[in-house]
Amino acid sequence: MLQMLRSAFERELRDARIIDEVRRTGNRYLSGKTSHVRNFFAYLSQLGSIEKAAGGMLLNELKQSLETALHTRLSSFENKIIPFEDTLPGTPRVLGRRHPIYQTWDEIARIFLKLGFEVEVGPEIDTEENNFTSLNIPLDHPAADAFDTFYIRAPYLLRSHTSPVQVRAMRKRTPPFRIIAPGKVFRPDDADASHLPSFHQVEGLMVGPDVSFAQLKGVLLLFAREMFGRDSKVRFRPSYFPFTEPSAEVDVSCFLCAAKGCPACKGSGWMEILGSGMVHPKVFEAVGYDPEATTGFAFGMGVERICMLRHGVKDIRWFVENNFRFLKQF
Ligand code: DAH
Repeated sequence: MLQMLRSAFERELRDARIIDEVRRTGNRYLSGKTSHVRNFFAYLSQLGSIEKAAGGMLLNELKQSLETALHTRLSSFENKIIPFEDTLPGTPRVLGRRHPIYQTWDEIARIFLKLGFEVEVGPEIDTEENNFTSLNIPLDHPAADAFDTFYIRAPYLLRSHTSPVQVRAMRKRTPPFRIIAPGKVFRPDDADASHLPSFHQVEGLMVGPDVSFAQLKGVLLLFAREMFGRDSKVRFRPSYFPFTEPSAEVDVSCFLCAAKGCPACKGSGWMEILGSGMVHPKVFEAVGYDPEATTGFAFGMGVERICMLRHGVKDIRWFVENNFRFLKQF
């Protein structure tokens, strides 16, 4: 009996892989309140004096030899650094994924690349000239107000839209060409459900000797169909931007209710997706093109907005909260 206990103990000690397991085994056999050895002593106390004396001797011997075995095993762990503890549960690692805003950008880019547009990238810090004056926005225009713009040190500022990339592209390229320009833009807006001080836009520009408004409509209709579904329609509402003439705001038919009117389109059947127009002659002049011989269209859209419309996201702030439960839905 005692011999069996001893060999069971020795086997467990041998099999223990970490020091805590050795200690737990020691507890179970020796030191714990209900350890095997204690139970044997308790049993012994009920026996007569002769059995007690004989059993006590054997038990004490056993106890001593178990203690020796325990200490030997414990000391085998001493000063030994265990580099990798493979019996502990691991730390779960969550696999990351591309942010929904960049997934949306990828999708937008895919559509325009198919239509022959190239990607042009401009800096997030740009000049007053590129951000405003070359785009026919005078510095005393409300959009250029110092309070409405993050200035680094004049004339440098955080661009308030991606339109300055139009100016940069035209200065370095010769028409005809067509580009899209993605990127971060900055405005001193307080964050709320539909505003963030930093968000993303995609600019589009096509320049050549005979670019027409009809082409703008065709390109944007194709875009809407690819982005929002085959049956999408577009609607052009007259609008005003200093750098285009004529200008239009473009709506896409609501893809949730097939333009019948629902909460997503606020009952109108239409959702606004971007601003656009024919490039203003003053902009061509500013970049050194002949406004008589050059035509072009431009458009600009908010990536967050497109993503929110497509996926029914109700609050733009969710994109920047880094909440994995939100992000993993995309
Ligand atoms: N830059 C405008 C904005 O940030 C968007 C825009 C409108 C861009 C019309 C364009 C355009 O290129 O033609 O609000």
